[in-house]
Amino acid sequence: MLLRILRWLIAFGVLIQLIPFGRQHTNPAVVREPAWDSPQTRDLAKRACFDCHSNETVWPWYSGIAPVSWLTQRDVNGGRSHLNFSEWNKPQRHAPHAAEEIQKGDMPPWFYLPMHAAARLTEAEKASLIAGFQKMPGFEDTDEKH
Ligand code: HEC
Repeated sequence: MLLRILRWLIAFGVLIQLIPFGRQHTNPAVVREPAWDSPQTRDLAKRACFDCHSNETVWPWYSGIAPVSWLTQRDVNGGRSHLNFSEWNKPQRHAPHAAEEIQKGDMPPWFYLPMHAAARLTEAEKASLIAGFQKMPGFEDTDEKH
């Protein structure tokens, strides 16, 4: 009985690999970045945000294996569509929320951290990233409700 379940599970695990969503791993061209106030702010953003909010996503090997590949693709699509540090030629209307997202601990998302130790910012690093954003054009708080 157990062996049969196991065989079904393996067959299922193999079959889902045939679904193409999540295997493209595209990194479109970097068109324009925001006017960084300092290289440190960019470094912190690169460590904690770029995988989902830029066109410089690092795709680890396990991001090619379903179902992780589906979740990763969903996060990158959703992340890029909300805020893309590589496409500052386009309006980035969520940029004013960046500081708040970091402060509340909503970004980077908790589930991303166990596999990405570099994205785990210390309190001082969070403060520094927020202070950096606050000096950059495009991040001003427009008082618009989300
Ligand atoms: C694992 C992927 C991932 C990482 C890493 C990540 N984000 Fe996000 N982010 C998302 C996704 C997906 C969304 C859109 C859905 C949502 O709001 O949860 C989003 C939404 C946002 C939004 C829009 C929220 C709103 O409603 O206005 C901001 C701002 C943001 N992220 C900032 C950041 C910043 C700053 C960092 C780095 C400190 C970061 N994110 C790291 C995936 C990520």
